[in-house]
Amino acid sequence: MNAPVAPLTERQAWKDLAAHYQDIRALHLRDLFANDPKRGERMTAQAAGLYFDYSKNRMTDETLRLLLRLAEESNLRGRIDAMFRGEKINVTEKRAVLHMALRAPRGASILADGRNVVSQVHAVLDKMADFSDRVRSGAWKGHTGKRIRNVINIGIGGSDLGPVMAYEALKHYSERAVTFRFVSNVDGTDFAEAVRDLDPAESLFIISSKTFTTLETMTNAHTARKWLLAGLGGDDTSVAKHCVAVSTNAKEVTKFGIDPANMFEFWDWVGGRYSMDSAIGLSTMIAIGAEQFRAMLDGFHQMDEHFRTAPFEHNLPVLMGLLAVWYTNFFGAQTIAVLPYEQYLKRFPAYLQQLTMESNGKQVTLDGSLVAWDTGPIYWGEPGTNGQHSFYQLIHQGTRLIPCDFIAFMQPLHPLRRHHDMLVANVFAQTEALAFGKTPEQVKSEGTPDWLVPHRVFEGNRPSNTILAERLTPETLGKLIALYEHSVFTQGAIWNIDSFDQWGVELGKMLAQRIIPELENKEEPALSHDSSTNNLIRRYRTLRQTT
Ligand code: F6P
Repeated sequence: MNAPVAPLTERQAWKDLAAHYQDIRALHLRDLFANDPKRGERMTAQAAGLYFDYSKNRMTDETLRLLLRLAEESNLRGRIDAMFRGEKINVTEKRAVLHMALRAPRGASILADGRNVVSQVHAVLDKMADFSDRVRSGAWKGHTGKRIRNVINIGIGGSDLGPVMAYEALKHYSERAVTFRFVSNVDGTDFAEAVRDLDPAESLFIISSKTFTTLETMTNAHTARKWLLAGLGGDDTSVAKHCVAVSTNAKEVTKFGIDPANMFEFWDWVGGRYSMDSAIGLSTMIAIGAEQFRAMLDGFHQMDEHFRTAPFEHNLPVLMGLLAVWYTNFFGAQTIAVLPYEQYLKRFPAYLQQLTMESNGKQVTLDGSLVAWDTGPIYWGEPGTNGQHSFYQLIHQGTRLIPCDFIAFMQPLHPLRRHHDMLVANVFAQTEALAFGKTPEQVKSEGTPDWLVPHRVFEGNRPSNTILAERLTPETLGKLIALYEHSVFTQGAIWNIDSFDQWGVELGKMLAQRIIPELENKEEPALSHDSSTNNLIRRYRTLRQTT
């Protein structure tokens, strides 16, 4: 897979892009559009029902040509093929990266360690479908014989963000008779608030953890068990009807006391942040039903196939990933804003933060040498139009360059057509305002007094992508997520980093394990941290004991 490639800054396309950047950095989108009346039609691509307008980017045809050459010189094609072939491209964990197998159609063949994993995937999907049908129909009864009316997913990171985001995104399609809650934080408030109005006899916990060892999840799972026992008369066997697990670790699941028959499996070739379409999506499936869940998988798969097969110049994730590289490495942009104009996607930016930043927040290349270029940008965002009344000021008139992804849908999910027209008008207005701004002459011609003119000028030339889809459906959501997954992959391939490990989360976890007993011990512990940490621990101990 990893045909040796030159370090990024030594690749010819990189050098050419650096020179080209100097040529075009001063070009304004006003001129680029004025000189090419068809630009807004030309610089677009479509795949799997998603329309991608990248014309409002600070680029020319030459930029695109060079970025595509950079992709070639970075062996992006080889990297994609290696991933789909099941090679262990997660080099530091020696793992294959095969989330695409989670959405491959029944009968397809994708190999991990020489075994076709697609049949395993469908066996688990069938088991999930059977279980979720029983919960939805009321056939699955709790310990006292009552039907399940509350489903609480306990998990964190990839075992939470995907399920929460998907539940919110697809609420329109969800079973409203069931209440869904999500507990992730080790902060007891999260658990307490999630269950405060629920009846244990009607509640089902899905304990979702790839490793089944994560501090937050295991702490919340133990608290859930106590809460169930307290509410169900203290009978240990009652828990079986109220707790199921989603994990790769059958041993730990059994140790916790969950019947392996009630465990939904996934595999080490699924990264946590790429797992919402695995059994980690069990809460999603209970919410929307197996058929809609499969429609979502089909959406993912359509985008996978597009990414795998489309020429790079028409390939949405490749174009998006290359543009992120262009702004990160040549314009020095630090962040990318994702702005869905769809209230149901309110958790989408938070979901993308783990996907993008846990994947590409890396400082060494695959062979362990320090990078000499910036890697993963900070992704953030909020749904429109709320963001417009909050942080858009900085995007329009601040000193930083913030490339934006605007996401919008042609059809609303509620028959409030006028709301929707206004919503979409705002998408188009924002991208127009960002790109073209308002010159001092225009401001003056409106009768603005001279002293106020500079305050009311919009420099413009602020780049954005616009992504349009027909309607937010499970299928569309699958396509959108896969679009970002593969854009992240594209960026990681250019930067030559491992987008699939996450060693950066380990140190804090390890130190917390050391500090917990130092906070809880009755005896004054001998502290050997730095003076600040020692002092903070002592201060906490004093107040903890007196309150
Ligand atoms: O934050 C680190 C991490 O390992 C994530 O990658 C993962 O999604 C999360 O913790 C939860 O892990 P698990 O599913 O094993 O509980």
